[in-house]
Amino acid sequence: MRQISKPVSLAVNVSSGTYSSHGNNLSRNGTKVSHVLPSADVVSAGASSKQLPFSNNQNPIDVGVIESEGTCRSFSLDEVLIATNNFDDALVIGIGGFGKVYKGFIDGSVTMVAIKRLNAKSKQGAREFWMEVKMLSKLWHANLVALIGYCNECQEMILVYEYIALGTLADHLYKLKTTVSNTSFSPLSWEERLDISIGASPGLNHLHSGTSQSFIHRDVKSTNILIGENWVAKISDFGLSKGLTSYSITHISNEVKGTFGYLDPDYFRTFRLTVKSDMYAFGVVLLEVLCGWPPVDCKLDSEQIGLIYWAQQCFKKGKFAEVIDPSLSGQIEQPCLKSFVALIKNCLSEIPRSRPPMAEVLGRLKLALLSQQRGRTKGIMTKAFRSMMDRWLRERKDNSSSSGQSYDLLSSR
Ligand SMILES: Nc1ncnc2c1ncn2[C@@H]1O[C@H](COP(=O)(O)OP(=O)(O)OP(=O)(O)O)[C@@H](O)[C@H]1O
Ligand SMILES: [Mg+2]
Repeated sequence: MRQISKPVSLAVNVSSGTYSSHGNNLSRNGTKVSHVLPSADVVSAGASSKQLPFSNNQNPIDVGVIESEGTCRSFSLDEVLIATNNFDDALVIGIGGFGKVYKGFIDGSVTMVAIKRLNAKSKQGAREFWMEVKMLSKLWHANLVALIGYCNECQEMILVYEYIALGTLADHLYKLKTTVSNTSFSPLSWEERLDISIGASPGLNHLHSGTSQSFIHRDVKSTNILIGENWVAKISDFGLSKGLTSYSITHISNEVKGTFGYLDPDYFRTFRLTVKSDMYAFGVVLLEVLCGWPPVDCKLDSEQIGLIYWAQQCFKKGKFAEVIDPSLSGQIEQPCLKSFVALIKNCLSEIPRSRPPMAEVLGRLKLALLSQQRGRTKGIMTKAFRSMMDRWLRERKDNSSSSGQSYDLLSSR
C-alpha cells in the first residue's frame, strides 16, 4: 500500500514516463508545464479591452481556432463586482493557475455562477483567456462546463461559468480526504467512480470528434473534471486547447504545454501534438480513479512518487492490492478490474497509435460497468443461494437429530 513518508524533491523523466531525482529542462509554473524549443516563436499576449475576441478580423490574439458566432455574454466590471461582492475572499471556492475562482450571483441574484479572475501574476495569460472564450462559445455539450460570459474591462480578464456544485473529481478521490478537519468525507464507491468516468468521456469525445473540427484539450486532469448535480461529470478549462487543422497535423509545434504528471511522453519527446496526448492524460485520470491517489505525490518514497510508474510495476507483478484505493476493498469484481486495468494500460501506452480513441474508451468503460453489475448480481445470488442452502441443511439436521436419524445430504438421495 502507498504510504506517506519523508518529503522528497521531485524531478520528472517524462520520456520514460517515470520519475527520478535527475534534473530536467521543464519550466514549471505551479503544476503547469511549458516546454519551449529554443527557436520558439512565442505568441505575444496583450488583449485590448472592450474588444470582442472573435469578431473575424479583429482578434486581439489570434488563437487560431474557429470562426465563431460568439454566443456568450460580455459582462461589465460593475456587474462582476456586484456578483462577487467586490471580489469578497469569503466567496473564493478555489485557486488555480489562472487565479482565484469565486462563487457569484448574476441576474438579480437568481443565477449562481463560478467566476474566474485572471491573477495579474498568472503565467496563464491572455492567450488562454481568449482561447477559453472562443472554444466554449462554439462548443456546447452536457459534459462540458458551459461558459456564460466574460469580462474584459479595465485590464481585467474574467470568465463566468455555470456553477458546478460538487467540486472536482480530484476532491472526491483524494483532496477532501487529506483535509484533516473533514470528518464528513465519504469515499466514492467503485460504481460511482465508473459512472463518473463514463460521464466525462462523451465530453472529451465531443471535443475530439463531435464537430467538424477536431480539438485537443491538452489539460485533461482530475481537477479539470467537475462534478455537477446528480454526479454528472463535466470537462473544464479549455485555455490550452488546440483545434486540429491540416497545418497543425503535418507541422510540429514549438511548445509542449500541459500539466506535470499528465504529459504524454511521446509528445514531450517529439513535440508532435495529437488527440492521443489527451488519451494518455485520460489514462492517468483512470489510474487516479482506481488508486485514489494523485499522479505525483512528493510526500511518498522515491519509487512511489510517480503513480504511473509505481502502478505499472505493481500491475506487472500482479500486485493489484498494492495500488488500488483501500476504500474500494472487496468492491471491484475481477472481470471488471481486468478490463479497467487493460484500458488504463492501453491509454498509457508509450506508442500513441496504440492508445484507443475516446469513443472506444467510452464503450469499454460501459462494458466494465456492465461486468461489475453482473458480477455483483451474481455475487448476491450466490450469497443468497448459499445462505438458503445453509439454512435448509441446518433445518434438516435439526429435524433429523430430533427424530434420532442421522443425516447425510448425498446418501439421502
Ligand atoms: N465552474 C465551476 N464551478 C464550481 N467550481 C469551480 C468551477 N471552476 C472551477 N471551480 C473551482 O475552482 C478551483 C480552481 O479551478 P481552476 O480551474 O482555476 O484550477 P485547477 O484546475 O485546479 O488548476 P489549473 O489552473 O492548473 O488548471 C477548482 O478546483 C474548483 O474547485
Ligand atoms: Mg481547472
